[in-house]
Amino acid sequence: MTTPFPDMEDSNDSTNPDIHRISSPSRRQVLGGGLGALGVQLLAGLGLSACATPGQGTSTAIGFKSVAVNTLDQVTLPEGYVAQVLVPWGEPVGLSGEAPAFRWDASNSAAEQAAQLGMHHDGIQFLPLPALGTGLLIINHEYTDDGLLHRDGMTTWSLEKVRKSQAAHGLSIVEVAFQEGRWQAVRPSPYARRITANTPMRFAGPAAGHPLLRTAADPRGLTPLGTLNNCGSGITPWGTVLTCEENFIGYFDGPAQPDAHGKRWGLKRGGAGYRWHEHDARFDATRNPHEPNRFGWMVEIDPQDPSSVPVKRTALGRAAHEAARIVLTKEGRAVVYSGEDARFEYIYKFVSRDRVQPGGAKANQHLLDHGTLYVARFDANGRGQWLPLIHGAHSLDAAHGFQDAGDVLIKSRQASDLLGATKMDRPEWIEVDPQGWVYVTLTNNSNRGVGDAPGVDAANPRANNSMGHIIRWKETGDFDATRFEWNHLVLAGDPQQSRAQAQGNIRGDAFACPDGLWVDSRGVLWIQTDIASSTLAKGEMSGLGHNALLAVDPRSGEVRRFLVGPAGCEITGMTGTPDGTTVFVNIQHPGESPSERSDPAQPRKYSNWPDFRADGRPRSATLAIRKIDGGVVGT
Ligand code: FEO
Ligand code: CA
Ligand code: CA
Repeated sequence: MTTPFPDMEDSNDSTNPDIHRISSPSRRQVLGGGLGALGVQLLAGLGLSACATPGQGTSTAIGFKSVAVNTLDQVTLPEGYVAQVLVPWGEPVGLSGEAPAFRWDASNSAAEQAAQLGMHHDGIQFLPLPALGTGLLIINHEYTDDGLLHRDGMTTWSLEKVRKSQAAHGLSIVEVAFQEGRWQAVRPSPYARRITANTPMRFAGPAAGHPLLRTAADPRGLTPLGTLNNCGSGITPWGTVLTCEENFIGYFDGPAQPDAHGKRWGLKRGGAGYRWHEHDARFDATRNPHEPNRFGWMVEIDPQDPSSVPVKRTALGRAAHEAARIVLTKEGRAVVYSGEDARFEYIYKFVSRDRVQPGGAKANQHLLDHGTLYVARFDANGRGQWLPLIHGAHSLDAAHGFQDAGDVLIKSRQASDLLGATKMDRPEWIEVDPQGWVYVTLTNNSNRGVGDAPGVDAANPRANNSMGHIIRWKETGDFDATRFEWNHLVLAGDPQQSRAQAQGNIRGDAFACPDGLWVDSRGVLWIQTDIASSTLAKGEMSGLGHNALLAVDPRSGEVRRFLVGPAGCEITGMTGTPDGTTVFVNIQHPGESPSERSDPAQPRKYSNWPDFRADGRPRSATLAIRKIDGGVVGT
């Protein structure tokens, strides 16, 4: 496909010596960007801190002894650390007057589930409330395993079960406090909230009210219901949270022959098997063809105002969004990085037109409605370009199927195809470190170079990329730059296994299928893995054990394994307290079978974590991890 942007592949004046090997981050030029003075001020107002510049002093940034690979049904941590299980699926979130206890036979009703923590914890953010001495955990519940969620799985199916499944999706906002050496949920709490697949929301930004967002139930296209498949999330400097709607299309039953738009977004008969459409026509796309267009957005939530209506920010584009990493330019414009976790999809960034204002959520309620959305192209010479998705420019016009700005945002995949953006190996989380490196995990892509699928390219250099990799770049200038220089932090995998190419700028413990990322206040990069249950500890993954959490020393590039999860889980979101003495880490889908679905007749077959009851069932949960001596986690 031709692209309207100049090809940079022939340029040979890059300062990047080799895209696969480059000096450690601390030896690279430090960008003058970062949050800037305004951002630091805003964060300080929230009780959050901007990243300190690492590399000072002589001690290594990671002081714990690496945990050995294992396949135990438990959480393994380094010596000197303790983990507390907090807010598992089914615990009451703390709504006033409602505290339905979790029933171990999974017989809680849909209404009870709507007052309890949802299932399958994913992205997590911590918002301190310094005046109260407490804080809010804002937790995504990515999806449900209906074999565990209902007493008899899906053998019978009803509207009540659909409603329970929908109630176990979305987010939980839980107030937590550290008292007498333990973290505890504050119940009841005026901040406690469940947001589900049926919570009233509104659209804002250029696509709000667009004809493709209108349905019979919402003829103005302004008031969607609910959020789905909430994977990663990000916290804004003004105190709100952006939650991402990832694999939303799987909830819809499509026609046998979808149109070109439906096909491009993966709409198909039966979807991913949730069977909601059998009792809720909203998810029958043959009857409500625009309903799928109302998902795939980033949703902004004000966790400090439980009565606030969540807003789907259309200016940030529609995609199977995995992550939202928000940074500020020196002059205070908001930049939102996000990837799309699907094979051969794209990496995006949004740059706000206006500057962030002091005054919290209210003062910035329109900030994410005006700006420019870009998609990334990685060129073979180690340089890259951000391609703007602007209606009327670069062939994004009516002649090419884009009637207006809303069309471009709703069909961002098609627009990115037309611009010649780089098709990536499933972009998952995005993080930014104190040196200005932007990291993206590319978890894996077994279809790369297979059959008619796209072949390898410089940014995605392995065919049948079962192990994944991490790419990183620095913007040429501030975070709103349109050009960047990139390289690979690592091509993941165990060099002892079949992947001789498992090499990079880091050394130490091996891992595969990187997914979650978090940079702590000291600049340590934490990597969470998501090896699929079907391949965990088998074949070329046999040396890697269960999914794990690893830390990368920002100066030496050394990687050490910090945590190994229980059977069948993946390690998902991570955040921490501003003082660094507690990190919160989510354990998702413990006990998932190799076929990635549980058997309701044998719920404990693969794991009984974390409760280990004779009548229990495995539950996703948040871990609060601390050093026994009260020090900073990771030191
Ligand atoms: Fe929800 Fe891409 O992991
Ligand atoms: Ca993920
Ligand atoms: Ca994943």
